[in-house]
Amino acid sequence: MTEEQKAVRDAARDFAQNVLKPGVIERDREQRFPKDEVKQLGELGFMGMMVDPKYGGSGMDTISYVLAMEELSKVDASASVCVSVNNSLVCWGLETFGTEEQKQKYLVPLAKGEKIGAFCLSEPEAGSDATSQRTTAVDMGDYYLLNGTKNWITNGSSASTYLVIAQTNPELGHRGINALIVERGMEGFIVGEKEDKMGIRGSDTHTLLFNDVKVPKENRIGEDGFGFKFAMKTLSGGRIGIAAQALGIAAGAYELSKAYSKERQAFGKEIFKHQAIAFKIADMATEIDAARLLVHRAAADKDAGRNYDTSGAMAKLFASEVAMRHTVEAVQIHGGYGYVKEYHVERLMRDAKITQIYEGTSEIQRVVISRNVMMD
Ligand code: CAA
Repeated sequence: MTEEQKAVRDAARDFAQNVLKPGVIERDREQRFPKDEVKQLGELGFMGMMVDPKYGGSGMDTISYVLAMEELSKVDASASVCVSVNNSLVCWGLETFGTEEQKQKYLVPLAKGEKIGAFCLSEPEAGSDATSQRTTAVDMGDYYLLNGTKNWITNGSSASTYLVIAQTNPELGHRGINALIVERGMEGFIVGEKEDKMGIRGSDTHTLLFNDVKVPKENRIGEDGFGFKFAMKTLSGGRIGIAAQALGIAAGAYELSKAYSKERQAFGKEIFKHQAIAFKIADMATEIDAARLLVHRAAADKDAGRNYDTSGAMAKLFASEVAMRHTVEAVQIHGGYGYVKEYHVERLMRDAKITQIYEGTSEIQRVVISRNVMMD
């Protein structure tokens, strides 16, 4: 790590421990979005970490981003998913494929953290099978008429800028799909029901409804029909962010487990001196290190301009499985205390589950990995 990367990691760690941690249990219980905390993250430059400073970003590399994501996620995965979606999906997508006008109008406030973005691909009947988009964007000349429903949208009610994937030419299949920038407040755009979730309960996940929303043509990202590739390319980087989130959740549970097992006594000694606990700690340490190496390799691939479709998918697959496995073990190590909210590990266990589902399930990561390695 460079000195700058270490400084970013330390700043994120301080923020997580001092600002996020005090209210995290309450926000989880009340399903309350960390509004003030996300605002502060924006002021500190964490919402547009990799965006060029000329567009209001922090101009950092992907390694710095995953270091920050790990630290934030050790404490509050609801806040970190907001950071991840804004950085990886929305800012990156706009900076890489947007027009200069789109960047000035939409990217700058998102990168500065003045506004929040959302990425809208999933639908009631199109999750893993993302080409089966039912939302339509009919070409009306100088605007698209957008109709449909999007499901499980992160930052659903806190966002102002939404990247919406929709079908324009069904006869062309995935080549007829477009990505449109939709603003909060456009007529016919309704933020629907909030989901009552198992984990990341502080994150506001909503259904979104589009009823004859007129989206100007200049809000289309890329050429006509580029929307599906836009989604796939954007999600490839998003998966690195979620991999780092999963790593952070696992590492948070590991740190708590180490501390607890040094403190807690049973049968006359600290519990880490019992082999049953020591071996769990050893497996956690090993697998979390392996996950970190995969996450950092994917980030390094992206920074070096190499293809990261496979390394990102591998990192997400492995880190999310590690997060699930070891948060369950962390609860076990904590025993009865692990089952109550005050000790944090039960929340980390609930939060871990979503990392195996969103931005491509573990099964989809295996599809991506197997297809890519078979083409090598
Ligand atoms: N980069 C560029 N293009 C890509 C690509 C990539 N990484 N992956 C696929 N494509 C292109 C293909 O080349 C193909 O284009 P051509 O026919 O022109 O060559 C096109 O996309 C379709 O690809 P496939 O034929 O492979 O499509 P498929 O239907 O077999 O499956 C899939 C593709 C990988 C399974 C895809 O549907 C997928 O990733 N599904 C999961 C969706 C997902 O991750 N959803 C997460 C929701 S977003 C979210 O969770 C955000 C949040 O709020 C936290």
